[in-house]
Amino acid sequence: MADKDKQPDGKEPIDQNRAAADAEHAAKLAGDIPPRAAPDQPEAPRHRRKGRHGVKVQADEVPSTGHEWDGITEYDNPMPRWWLWTFYVTIVWAILYMLAYPAVPLVSSATKGLIGTTTRDNVAAEIARFDQANADIQARLASVDLDQIPQDPELQSYATNAGGALFRTWCAQCHGSGAAGARGYPNLLDNDWLWGGSLQDIHLTLQHGIRDPQDDDTRYSEMPRFGTDGLLDRQQIDQVTHYVLSLADQPHDAGKAGAGAEIFADNCAACHMEDGTGDRSQGAPNLTDAVWLYGSDPAALNRIITEGPYGVMPAWSSRLSEAEIRAVATYVHGLGGGE
Ligand code: HEC
Ligand code: HEC
Repeated sequence: MADKDKQPDGKEPIDQNRAAADAEHAAKLAGDIPPRAAPDQPEAPRHRRKGRHGVKVQADEVPSTGHEWDGITEYDNPMPRWWLWTFYVTIVWAILYMLAYPAVPLVSSATKGLIGTTTRDNVAAEIARFDQANADIQARLASVDLDQIPQDPELQSYATNAGGALFRTWCAQCHGSGAAGARGYPNLLDNDWLWGGSLQDIHLTLQHGIRDPQDDDTRYSEMPRFGTDGLLDRQQIDQVTHYVLSLADQPHDAGKAGAGAEIFADNCAACHMEDGTGDRSQGAPNLTDAVWLYGSDPAALNRIITEGPYGVMPAWSSRLSEAEIRAVATYVHGLGGGE
């Protein structure tokens, strides 16, 4: 047995060594452990630095907040004076501002402010001042004969400027900011007019609108829905489409156009005239000028003839004053297509 305990090289057996190690360990546990050194308090640098008011202070005079992480201590340095004072000034400023101007939102308005001025009132006053300044010329614009406006340079220039602003506010969303129109919304720059391009015509169009259901005097006419209502069959619509294309000198099928001529004379000439040049008293466009309101391709024309167009332009007399309507009519008339 003893042989078995010996290490191969003849040293003491392992378990004896272990017993010694255990004893040593037990002795340590019993109190021989040397006390571990407390972590070093970081030492503040000893060099001198500039303090407040230029007085040199010892850095280690600065107290600690008592916060320490991983041996990093937080010093309780005061904020710089200039910073603190700026901060106080902003607080005082905010309080004074809130008292002086409308600031605190209430249920339906805001506190009035002690100096009694609001940007809303300023705007209202500006508008009133403007209206006052223009009252005379507006009254004159609303009362003169329409054809007097272009004779009077002052009126003409005022109406054109005011009308341009009105146009950009009320009309541009449909007719485009440059008045060039879009599909279904006529171009107001050219001299192709549905209802007429004289100042009087434009004025009337603006006052009462076109097919505006709210205005009893609105300009009204309705092209029949030839396909939808079964007035013409598909083949006839195809033929008359090619006839319309031929009227405008656009590529077409001559055979179909020939058959379409008679259909046109029977069904369309009443509004678009025998020669297709249109009838303004019915707002029926000229079909020969290759200016299209709804598109020039055969499919677009076919759809219009099948389903009927139905352009609606709102009446403006309930929204704009007479002076404003005259101003914007003058502006549109002056765009280049006016007659
Ligand atoms: C909601 C869209 C819309 C707005 C807004 C609108 N228009 Fe129109 N306007 C139309 C449509 C659509 C027509 C064509 C109606 C038709 O097919 O007969 C039209 C036609 C006209 C015409 C007749 C053109 C012609 O060839 O005879 C004039 C002039 C006109 N608009 C001017 C104006 C002015 C000026 C304003 C602003 C005060 C305005 N429109 C605002 C949609 C609009
Ligand atoms: C009762 C009158 C009337 C009759 C009949 C009529 N139209 Fe029209 N047509 C109009 C009016 C008004 C417009 C413009 C309406 C609008 O813009 O809403 C129009 C528009 C059109 C357009 C669109 C033009 C463009 O610039 O885009 C075409 C194409 C057309 N008609 C073809 C025909 C053909 C083809 C017939 C016969 C089969 C016909 N119309 C019969 C009144 C008529």
